[in-house]
Amino acid sequence: MLDGTGHNMVKFCLQKNLATPEQVLPTCIHARMSIAGKLSIIVAVSKNGVIGKNGRIPWRISEELKFFRSITMGHTVIMGRKTFESIGKPLPGRKNLIITRNENWLPKDFCGKLSQVNILSNIDAALDMIQGSPASDHFWAIGGEEIYQQFLPYVGTIVCSEISAAYEGDAFFQIPRTFARGEKLHESPQFVAHRWVRTSDLDETRHPLYRN
Ligand SMILES: NC(=O)c1ccc[n+]([C@@H]2O[C@H](COP(=O)([O-])OP(=O)(O)OC[C@H]3O[C@@H](n4cnc5c(N)ncnc54)[C@H](OP(=O)(O)O)[C@@H]3O)[C@@H](O)[C@H]2O)c1
Repeated sequence: MLDGTGHNMVKFCLQKNLATPEQVLPTCIHARMSIAGKLSIIVAVSKNGVIGKNGRIPWRISEELKFFRSITMGHTVIMGRKTFESIGKPLPGRKNLIITRNENWLPKDFCGKLSQVNILSNIDAALDMIQGSPASDHFWAIGGEEIYQQFLPYVGTIVCSEISAAYEGDAFFQIPRTFARGEKLHESPQFVAHRWVRTSDLDETRHPLYRN
């Protein structure tokens, strides 16, 4: 009945008339806060909001890959099945969590890869894992679009590389106004990266950052 997000508990209590929304809300907020401290998004976004095209990232900037590696190394990365397949192998030096609804899915050429990945069937399983982990652990949602959208309500920080050019694409990301731009982590002609920090839960409209 209890899960990391508190959602199932809220549903259960309300269905059984065991509690009012006002009574169960603090449990939800507490659960979300404990997750937000351990969960971040890392994303690279073009000038016009694109993150992907035809299952791939439409640019190749080796410095940005190095930056991604340095931020995520030693932590746990969480990704959708499509992003995993576009990378093609588990990211070394990191625990890899892959989310898929297909219970028969296995990584291609999975021998040797299975021990390096954890396959989860829904977002709640990942949130439970995050909430149950030690405070020193950190989890990075690394994409793609579907995964970012579903984890966004739970993350406390976003590390965003703003790519200095516009690209055509079919996968997008925009930072909500509930996040404020913080520390600059990288600056080069090809991209600038900042840490964005959640300031409230109230305004889910997006920053007009990526308009042309
Ligand atoms: N620029 C960047 O920083 C960046 C980073 C990562 C990815 N990308 C790009 O983003 C694009 C991929 O994004 P995408 O949105 O198409 O795919 P995605 O988020 O990588 O993966 C989507 C898949 O994840 C699984 N999934 C999603 N929500 C789920 C849920 N609630 N429960 C269980 N499984 C769930 C489903 O897998 P099943 O279909 O197997 O059920 C779904 O098809 C690519 O172009 C990639 O290159 C860009």
